[in-house]
Amino acid sequence: MTEEDLEHIAHGYRQFVAEAEPTSPLYADLARHVAASPAVLGFLAELPTGKRQPNLLFAALQFLGGAPADGLDLERRITEDGDRVREVLLTRATQTNEPARCGALLPVLAQLDGPLTLIEVGTSAGLCLYPDRYGYDYDGVRVGPTGSVRIRVETSGNVPVPQRVPEVVARIGIDLNPLDPADPGDRAWLRALVWPGPAAEERLARLEAAAEVAAAEPPTVLRGDLVDRLPDALEFAAPGSTVVVMHTAVLPYVPRDARARFADAVGGLPVRWLAQEPPGAVPGTGERPAGGWGREFVVSLDSRPLARSAPHGGRLEWLVGGLEASGT
Ligand SMILES: C[S@@+](CC[C@H](N)C(=O)[O-])C[C@H]1O[C@@H](n2cnc3c(N)ncnc32)[C@H](O)[C@@H]1O
Repeated sequence: MTEEDLEHIAHGYRQFVAEAEPTSPLYADLARHVAASPAVLGFLAELPTGKRQPNLLFAALQFLGGAPADGLDLERRITEDGDRVREVLLTRATQTNEPARCGALLPVLAQLDGPLTLIEVGTSAGLCLYPDRYGYDYDGVRVGPTGSVRIRVETSGNVPVPQRVPEVVARIGIDLNPLDPADPGDRAWLRALVWPGPAAEERLARLEAAAEVAAAEPPTVLRGDLVDRLPDALEFAAPGSTVVVMHTAVLPYVPRDARARFADAVGGLPVRWLAQEPPGAVPGTGERPAGGWGREFVVSLDSRPLARSAPHGGRLEWLVGGLEASGT
């Protein structure tokens, strides 16, 4: 391990401080401490490169014994319990599953000709495959069943808030490492991935409720890469349905060449392609006429940007032109 390795890891943690500050001041503090701690940086440097990042380390610690109280507590736990932390880092991955993202997908799904087959690539535990089972509140306008999963969305622009949820007749998920919403260990890992902060309580409650929905009516799950398994997924589409290939917060994990192959594959199929991803991850979604995208995600249909959304859902801004321009 060289000084350069340690500095590289410290740099990643310093960058994470700004990302975490608005939603999780505790994680921002922990990241600051790690960036300045030779002991923790040394521990991380012994791990493979994809296993050193802040959100994975902090989730592993939450999984094992709750979030550290502060930087000193984090350092003590890594010194005293390093083997168990290492094992979780090596066997788990960042697979945050946030059903609130359905609040940004619903206005688009509801305008497509139904019934719908949903094929979600990068599905994690499949919690975004149930947009028809959740209840929504778009600035006070309620949509969907009044069950235990409630998704609040602040809107701006001309969001086409639907009057009802779409009919979904088949749900298929693809993931390199699917999580099982009925498995207590996977559920505990999903909880550990939620950052501590003002929104955590609401997110955790929603996660539990959505996992119950998914466990009661499991989707068809295919393990493997999104490009390789897409043809297999199509075999499970319901006859006569509109097939929607969808994904949220997945493409940042996919290497550029594989992203391009995925875009080519989806573009050549008789399906609709719904994405909620960082700007530019889907071809044609990198530009915004005025202003920047900031940290927002872009909601796109068939490569056409329709809206921008908060990365974990909760806010949705419709772009001028919206769905009319997309020809749904
Ligand atoms: C951040 S999670 C997002 C989960 C879910 N889409 C959501 O928004 O709540 C990203 C998921 O993509 C999966 N993933 C990453 N690369 C993949 C690939 N090449 N093929 C299939 N799944 C992949 C990961 O395993 C992980 O479960």
